[in-house]
Amino acid sequence: MRTQVGIVGAGPAGLFLSHLLQRAGIDCVVIETRSRKYIEERVRAGVLEQESSDVLRQMGLGARMDREGLIHHGINLRFNERLHHIDFQDLVGKGVMVYGQHEVVKDLVQARLDSGAPLLFEVSDVAVDGLDTKTPTVRFTHQGQAQELVCDFIAGCDGFHGICRPAIPEGVLKTYERTYPFGWLGILAQAQPASEELIYSNHDNGFALLSMRSPELGRLYLQCDPEEDLANWPDARIWEELNLRLAGGKGLPEGPILQKGVTQMRSFVVEPMQYGRLLLAGDAAHIVPPTGAKGMNLAFADVRVMARALDAFYRDGRDDQLAAYSEVCLRRIWKAQRFSWFMTSLMHRFPDDSAFDRRRQLADLDYLTGSRAAMTSLAENYVGLPMEWALS
Ligand code: FAD
Ligand code: DHB
Repeated sequence: MRTQVGIVGAGPAGLFLSHLLQRAGIDCVVIETRSRKYIEERVRAGVLEQESSDVLRQMGLGARMDREGLIHHGINLRFNERLHHIDFQDLVGKGVMVYGQHEVVKDLVQARLDSGAPLLFEVSDVAVDGLDTKTPTVRFTHQGQAQELVCDFIAGCDGFHGICRPAIPEGVLKTYERTYPFGWLGILAQAQPASEELIYSNHDNGFALLSMRSPELGRLYLQCDPEEDLANWPDARIWEELNLRLAGGKGLPEGPILQKGVTQMRSFVVEPMQYGRLLLAGDAAHIVPPTGAKGMNLAFADVRVMARALDAFYRDGRDDQLAAYSEVCLRRIWKAQRFSWFMTSLMHRFPDDSAFDRRRQLADLDYLTGSRAAMTSLAENYVGLPMEWALS
């Protein structure tokens, strides 16, 4: 098999890239180890920055998002038992779209399959080689047949545990990492959300987040131990703790819990995000703690920069944008890392908090919610900083 761009991984990064390339007339093949059903049911992130949803819409991929997604004009911060609204629309004239990552994935998969372009599920034994040649190759097994996909470029969109990043020779990448002493217990519940907009709560018992997927479906999170055993969290305990942290003990509409899971929190970046003709994007190159809702949006931003650079290469024979790919992406990534770290530090209880740290954290929240300048900065980052396309 021969293609221009071999895309490893059908998460938000790989799928969106396939559409951007298709629109630019660049040939690509997407391969994915999991089944279509698995990736379409994997519940993860839920917030699209305004520009992410705008681009989906402009590309004709936003019809269901516009019908079923929820436009939010702000968020609420809760601390000291009081709710404070941050009005993004008023502060920066933008908002966000609450629409589940697995719904975005469903829409992108359907559109790709409808176009008849190649998207192969349940491949195995994936390996990449020849990365520093002009014909890098992806090898894999599909339906029992060993396949060799010869490419001009490989896009490593295979997430944090993928094979692309480890295929880069030792010593090339520099890794920056931070782990946090807590995780999130997330649930999806058949329960009406108690608020029209998200609530991020800093409570003495720890962080909690109220989000949603529809007017009938709640998505809620509780700060927990990173190694938390779900057996310690029967449904009644989850609702009791959510009620306490989000609603002062009572009043949160409850309902059957459809899914539960624990996510560890980490910040991670590799530099550079490219080697030879392998370009990494999304979680394959960086992870943010979810508090700033940036994971899926960063994946989208990376592949927009990549698609534009590949377009310049094929259309005009220019490779300067490809050479600058990593540096351009990393400017946004580090700003998103900073914001995610800021939101995480602001909203969580740290196990070794001193009484001083706690008072300072509450003062941070008090300052933030009382200062238009500070709220504007939060709003500007949350709705998404403008795209940067080139080095300046
Ligand atoms: P992924 O979505 O990880 O996609 C990578 C794809 O590559 C996967 O489908 C995988 O199966 C496939 N793959 C892996 N190896 C191979 C291989 N060898 N060959 C072919 N395919 C391969 N972000 C938030 O903002 N808020 C949240 O609440 C949130 N919750 C999360 C919960 C969990 C459990 C996780 C893991 C992440 C969460 N994130 C959250 C982060 C967000 O979901 C990610 O940033 C986003 O999925 C990144 O997209 P991606 O396409 O780069 O990677
Ligand atoms: C959701 C997840 C987040 O990490 C976040 O900051 C906001 C919302 C969600 O899953 O809806």
